[in-house]
This record gives sequence, structure tokens and C-alpha cells, in this order.
Amino acid sequence: MTTATAMGDLTTTKAPFIESAQGRGDLFIGQPYEQYSENNQEAWRRLYARMLPRWKRYAHPRFLEGVENLALDPQAVPRLADVNRYLEPLSGFKSKAVSGYVPAYLFFDCLRQREFPTTITIRDKDSLDYLPEPDIFHDVAGHVPMHTDRQFSDVLVRFGEVAREAARRAQAIDDAERRVHVVESNIKAMARFFWFTIEFGLMKGGDKGVCAYGSGLLSSFGEIEHCVESPDVQRYPFQLEWVVNQYFEIDHYQPLLFVADGFEHLFSQVDLLERWLMDGKLDNVSPGEPGINETDLASFLEASLHTEDAPAS
Ligand SMILES: [Fe+2]
Repeated sequence: MTTATAMGDLTTTKAPFIESAQGRGDLFIGQPYEQYSENNQEAWRRLYARMLPRWKRYAHPRFLEGVENLALDPQAVPRLADVNRYLEPLSGFKSKAVSGYVPAYLFFDCLRQREFPTTITIRDKDSLDYLPEPDIFHDVAGHVPMHTDRQFSDVLVRFGEVAREAARRAQAIDDAERRVHVVESNIKAMARFFWFTIEFGLMKGGDKGVCAYGSGLLSSFGEIEHCVESPDVQRYPFQLEWVVNQYFEIDHYQPLLFVADGFEHLFSQVDLLERWLMDGKLDNVSPGEPGINETDLASFLEASLHTEDAPAS
């Protein structure tokens, strides 16, 4: 008799379904829901149950609205088709299952098209704490509730447009060495912006004081409390010139976080990021993490920039 376990399940880094998709070079995939094992379902239940009270205490109110609007089931790993049924009418966004790492340009360009590359595997039920890879709890419980918010989703789209502008700009540089230098610096600036907002952003939350809206915080049982309560965290008002030059490390709690005033403020900062990009102010940002790999570089340098949104002649 073949059990779900014998077939393999959808545990992060151990899922045969994902390995074969990667082997075939398939990035966008389906979600074979029947492959979630009892262990996978148990991991979701445990993650959700322990996180809920912390969300209520530390998450931005708009995130909590998002959780409600998505009608996530505390008892079962979400089906992306169900998530999208609630999500799309609210903001036009949808989650799209992927088999693994999405090259930077492609990732940002998906956002521009209101698509969110979404991991479908889930961490092991016996190691619920931090793991370096994203999983469906990070992506769907950490990111997607914010995507139900129109203002926030517009920030993501705008961010995708900044990436497109960076690719367009880089591809117009004749000198090969200069082209690589500029695009590497631009990607670094964008990655830092993304890290300190979408992944690890804090925001003023009215009566609640400072609260979390970044998915890395919202999907971490330990860090969601630490980021708000700990005297070891430096919390400063969001400053673009600082953020784009600030390196970060991914393997421990963040010692430095930036607090945005609100979603309008966040949107205005993405606008400013684009202006700085176009003015060449992001062409020589401070070196250091994150490192930009060949795949990410190539994704910008070789991006096909269709004329779909060129002005009509
Ligand atoms: Fe993330």
C-alpha cells in the first residue's frame, strides 16, 4: 500500500514533487494538494495556533483585516485557488505557485503584474522556528494578508515598475563593465528597500504604537515580539538614504529596523526610490550584503522589455 509519506510529502527541502519540477526546469507549477501529509497539515496547525495571539498583539491592524478577509483556515494548509478567490476581488493580486528561487527581475516583474510567486512547501512540524528558505506559512500567512490591502498592493506594483526602469536603464548603457556595476548597485538598493519594508518593515499603528507589517516578522513566532518589545532593536524612522545603503544579514534577528509612518508614506518612498534610480543616485550604493548572484544580474540584463505599456502612438 502506498502511503502519503511513501510518495513523499511537501516538506521544505525534502519534497520529491518540487525536486522533479526543478529537474524539469519548471518554475511555475501547480499545487498538488493531495501530497500534503498529515505531518504537513500538523505543521500548519501548530504554526497558525501559536502565531495568532502574537498577530493580535503585534501585527498592523491592516494585516489583521487581511487575515480575516482571506478566511485562512487555522486547521489546514491553504489551497492557493481558495486564497485567490478571496484575494483577487480585493486588490487584483493572486498567488502563483513556484518550485523555488525566482530570479530577482522575474520576481519583481510578477509583482508589477499583481502576481505573487508563492512557495507551496511547508517546514517540518518539529522545527517550526526560523528557516532560511521561504515556505507556505511565510508566503501565505506572512505576505498574502497584506496583499488584500489595495494601498499596500499598489506599493508592490510600483516596486515592480522601479525594477523595470532599472532593467531599461541598465540595458541602455553601452559599456559592459559599467552596465554590470550599475545594475548590481541598483539591485542591491532595491533588495535593501524590499528587505526593510516588505520583509521586515515596522509601521506606526495608531493606538497600537509601532507594529509589524513585514512578512519576515509576521511569520516568525520569536521575532514578531522581539522586533516590537526588545531594547536590543534599534528602531528609526524610515530614511531612504539610509535604507538603500544599509547591509543586512538574514540568519539572526534584525538589530536595526525602520518605521514607516503609514502606507501612503511607504508608497511615496517607492516613488522617491524610482526618482533616485533615474537620477543615478542608486548607481553606487554602499557595498556589502546582499550579494547579487549571476542569475539575478542576468535576469535584469537580459529581461525582455516588451513595449506593452509604451505610450500609444
Ligand atoms: Fe518573504
